Amino acid sequence: MNPHVVVYKKLPDELLAVLRARFRVTYFEAIDETNRAAFLEAIRDADGLLGASVRLDKATLAPAGRLKIVSTISVGYDTFDVDALTERGILLAHTPGVLTETTADTIFTLILATARRVIELAEFVKAGRWQHSIDDSLYGVDVHSKTLGFLGMGRIGQAVVRRARLGFNMTILYHNLQPVPEVETAFGARFLPLDEVLRTADFICVVLPLSPETERLVGAREFALMQPHAIFINGSRGRIVDEAALIEALQQRKIHAAGLDVFEREPLPANSPLLAMSNVVALPHIGSATQETRLAMAQLAVDNLIAGLKGERPRYLANDAVWSDRR
Ligand code: 8YV
Repeated sequence: MNPHVVVYKKLPDELLAVLRARFRVTYFEAIDETNRAAFLEAIRDADGLLGASVRLDKATLAPAGRLKIVSTISVGYDTFDVDALTERGILLAHTPGVLTETTADTIFTLILATARRVIELAEFVKAGRWQHSIDDSLYGVDVHSKTLGFLGMGRIGQAVVRRARLGFNMTILYHNLQPVPEVETAFGARFLPLDEVLRTADFICVVLPLSPETERLVGAREFALMQPHAIFINGSRGRIVDEAALIEALQQRKIHAAGLDVFEREPLPANSPLLAMSNVVALPHIGSATQETRLAMAQLAVDNLIAGLKGERPRYLANDAVWSDRR
């Protein structure tokens, strides 16, 4: 009997056809309270899972006794209990690389939109409030030639650095678990202690994966170190930031503004204080959300799944230990 695959995120028809040609497929375009029970029932005899945006912890996957591989359509895998999967010898494949440039575009969009108040002023014009030549009450702040500080320096961080340095003549500072010589050589980036980056930078950009080490890394203490004109950007994961501390720092003008694509809770509740502040740009986690990139991510996730169910090593594994243990 063909392996059973449960798909829990909308897929392009052609990729669904590829899976149906090889596997018995149970397909959910998304999981919500209306079909969660059916989803949990379906995974009980699944050999493979493919999807994203659903937290699948140890307890949720415990009934899935035949599971061999989980293929997430994302680079981040904080929605999984990686240790539990590894203990059970279940492969966790993900989709780095193909989304790097698109996510870097989103992050730079946040930097420009927040600094130049693009959303706020576009709404100002749409509301018919542009009645005369603008005055300094509508001025933004420059991006070019400013200092951009990074928390983290992985693939996406380096792609943002390239845009910032080559395109906007920005000075680059970064804090990371370890120095990244290539970003220093190519773009003159300086590796500094966390607090130094926070104290010095005009823009502070979080480009870190969410992990027990990075959860709530940025809180009241960190915001207090930032300059009052600083602009805070988060394009990676909301739970890296203490959101209540961020809201307080913005309301008390400890920092100037924030550009956010991710939040502690997603979707962000409509009554979030973040949405009441004109100096906050909030996007609905669109980091990798372009037609081209989401197709490339889905294609890679399908390839990873097929490889894993054929007993081959998927191209990108979040828990390589499972594979090396098999060797
Ligand atoms: C995903 C992302 O689309 O890849 C990631 O880690 O955050 C996005 O590209 C998102 O995780 C899907 O839920």
